[in-house]
Amino acid sequence: MKLKSILITILCAVCGVTVAQEISLIPQPAQMTVNEGAFLLQGKVALCYPKDAGVNDVVDNFIKEIKTTTGVKISKSTYKKAKMLGADVKKCNKKADAHITLDTDASMGAEAYKLTVKERLITITAAQPAGFFYAFQTLKQLLPANVMAGVYDASATEWRIPCVSITDEPRFAWRGFMLDEGRHFYGKEEIKKILDIMAAYKMNRFHWHLTEDQGWRIEIKKYPKLTEVGAWRNSRVCGWGDVKPDGIRYGGYYTQKDAREIVAYAKERFIEIVPEVDIPGHSQAAVASYPEFLACDPENPHEVWLWQGVSADVINVSHPKAVQFAKDVIDELTAIFPFGYIHLGGDECPTHKWEKNSDCQALLKEIGSQNYRDLQINFYRQLKEHIAQKPAREQRRLIFWNEVLHGNTAALGNDITIMAWIGADRAAKEAASRGMNTILTPQIPYYINRKQSNLPTEPHSQGHGTETVEAVYNYVPMKDVPAELATKYMGVQANFWTEWVETPDHVQYLLLPRLAAVAEAGWTPQELRNYKDFEQRLQGEALFYRLKGVNYGKHVFK
Ligand code: ACM
Repeated sequence: MKLKSILITILCAVCGVTVAQEISLIPQPAQMTVNEGAFLLQGKVALCYPKDAGVNDVVDNFIKEIKTTTGVKISKSTYKKAKMLGADVKKCNKKADAHITLDTDASMGAEAYKLTVKERLITITAAQPAGFFYAFQTLKQLLPANVMAGVYDASATEWRIPCVSITDEPRFAWRGFMLDEGRHFYGKEEIKKILDIMAAYKMNRFHWHLTEDQGWRIEIKKYPKLTEVGAWRNSRVCGWGDVKPDGIRYGGYYTQKDAREIVAYAKERFIEIVPEVDIPGHSQAAVASYPEFLACDPENPHEVWLWQGVSADVINVSHPKAVQFAKDVIDELTAIFPFGYIHLGGDECPTHKWEKNSDCQALLKEIGSQNYRDLQINFYRQLKEHIAQKPAREQRRLIFWNEVLHGNTAALGNDITIMAWIGADRAAKEAASRGMNTILTPQIPYYINRKQSNLPTEPHSQGHGTETVEAVYNYVPMKDVPAELATKYMGVQANFWTEWVETPDHVQYLLLPRLAAVAEAGWTPQELRNYKDFEQRLQGEALFYRLKGVNYGKHVFK
């Protein structure tokens, strides 16, 4: 397969002119051959699929999207696998002008698919619904940009899909994006747009950072003050340096009903949500809500934090009610989010308040340690044991930021996952060598909230413009990882911290197109990745973003 974007020329049979069509898929498939000709989405198009493949919803959504964006109505029918069929599409729907057939192959990977486009026939093979979904995403990307954007284009008269043969599957099982809504609350519509864009790029984990010193964003019914008090602060901006708190009451939160709506939306796009409550550090909003049992110094006033940085006002991990609080929060999160993981944070947790608290001092003695970090591990141990007692469908695996490795993790076991951000490559290797799974989220260059260029037009943001699209693209996951540790690396994730980013428009500006660069690292084999080729394929994305109605960084678009 060629590394360069593939420019194919399609002879337009109807009007007799030659049009050039560029195939610009992101992420680049693992294997692709481009052939002459195109499938015309017009007239009577029939789609048939095996009854027992579990793809009813995937098929219905695809048909609906094609109808909305092109006006073409695809008819569907099912067949019994035993009778099928192969390319004998006449059995599918005799009267159709063109066919799309789906078939299953249990030997393929969970997210893998094969897609062949011929002039009158598209065939898709996959083992699981996710594979069929990704084949449809590829088909949508092969069509004009309005199709992936989900909007009708009245000016279009033809819908061509170039003839290709693709065999594809992701490099990594974990292709994530994290959004911090603790600092700023953006709301459901923004999250849905982000999920759409993640799905366009075949990303499959949305890590939702829901709590911070500056705000608690998820309704917990047993602790209503978390959102009555903890979701609101007395400043829109997070103060830092020359930026001063502005005294404006500001905040917001997701009800459990809202969160369930987002869960359903994500599921349709084969995205799992990883909810994060960052405890016991980064928890001043929670402490301000229930200082009587969460504060190390309940005698002092506590408020939702107005500043940037790392607050010293951490949860008192020695208080039995604080441990119960965390268990109760986990129970409600488990009920809302029916996925595999819960993230409990664990980064940047100062221990000064524990060091001065007599109950914490006594607990440290009781667990036989002199390292205050072990109080944090002991807290997590109790939460992990709590989860272990639940029925199978409520089991969740725990994820932590890599600072947790500074404590005695033997007390926690190695069936946890470490998200490696600071000194990421080294930390990931350390986690893997302790037998833990790990996810690469290197601060530099995968914190895509930082400035993406040094241009004077760059909006006020964090950083020095060193996280360019190219720098993000060129990070090489798993460089020099010994073979015996390789299976511990689950994948990659971009993170987005929002102290400096108050509006959805600014989020989108910084997110795009860098998210596409991380998505490709997660999907495409390393040996096929090449920045110049990516930059060329990226050019068409500007139209996708505009049609989708999202802002984006303009630097790399010509
Ligand atoms: C982090 O950036 N504090 C995980």
